[in-house]
Amino acid sequence: MVSEYEIKKQICEIGKRIYDRGMVASNDGNISVKLNDNEFLCTPTGVSKGFMTPEYICKVDAEGKVIQANPGFRPSSEIKMHMRVYKNRPDVQSVVHAHPMYATAFAIAGIPLTQPIMPEAVIALGCVPIAEYGTPSTDEIPDAVEKYLPYFDAVLLENHGALAFSDSLLNAYHKMESVEFYAKLLYLSNQLGGAKELSKSQVERLFEIRRQFGLPGKHPANLCPNAKAGLPSCHSCKGTCGATLNADCGSTEDLVAQITKKVMEQLNK
Ligand code: 13P
Repeated sequence: MVSEYEIKKQICEIGKRIYDRGMVASNDGNISVKLNDNEFLCTPTGVSKGFMTPEYICKVDAEGKVIQANPGFRPSSEIKMHMRVYKNRPDVQSVVHAHPMYATAFAIAGIPLTQPIMPEAVIALGCVPIAEYGTPSTDEIPDAVEKYLPYFDAVLLENHGALAFSDSLLNAYHKMESVEFYAKLLYLSNQLGGAKELSKSQVERLFEIRRQFGLPGKHPANLCPNAKAGLPSCHSCKGTCGATLNADCGSTEDLVAQITKKVMEQLNK
């Protein structure tokens, strides 16, 4: 079993990565890891995540209250946001919050990442919605994020940044990297005259690969409420899929294809 000290070292290593890769500026961003149902490690508030040592890392309970912190260190001001993820997603072992340049630019422009432009992003993320703006450190961000948690492994935070979570610290960090890479490619390809999207059948094949590989986490391909209702999911819903079925999801073309399929099924009975 990996010791608590070793996990603290890993958090510092990931903090250095997000800082060195320009995913955070100054003292921004925060990271947490679940040890068990009532013990979590998290980065302290107000320090650069690029220069942490294990002594910086705080331990909190499921409410975000301090269990242990060295003098001069307090848990991240965003700990409530992390705790809301763990509460709603028992499969999640780690949460990473950062302000990567391109993903944050999309979050500021109010544009969710919904264009299917490359296989890896479609398989790893599906699409990335934007949770409505909330004041940092209050319950507003956790409340805004909550409805997306059952269906996504990453969300953009409006006018703020990005949040990614997964079954390990490294995977949560990789999700964040994937979000930023996807956002950057989307931005650049649109600058080059417009991203050429993968077709619906190409996207469906990628979703199928994801299912076959049994990849962990949540993905709108098989969990979006629209998908459950037989509506086209993910890359046609403009990122507005939430906890409730969104009647606007799906292009007219998609819906016509879906209705035609159902009619044909009835006729062939
Ligand atoms: P903390 O230093 O309190 O974790 O906050 C950083 C941040 O990015 C807030 O959004």
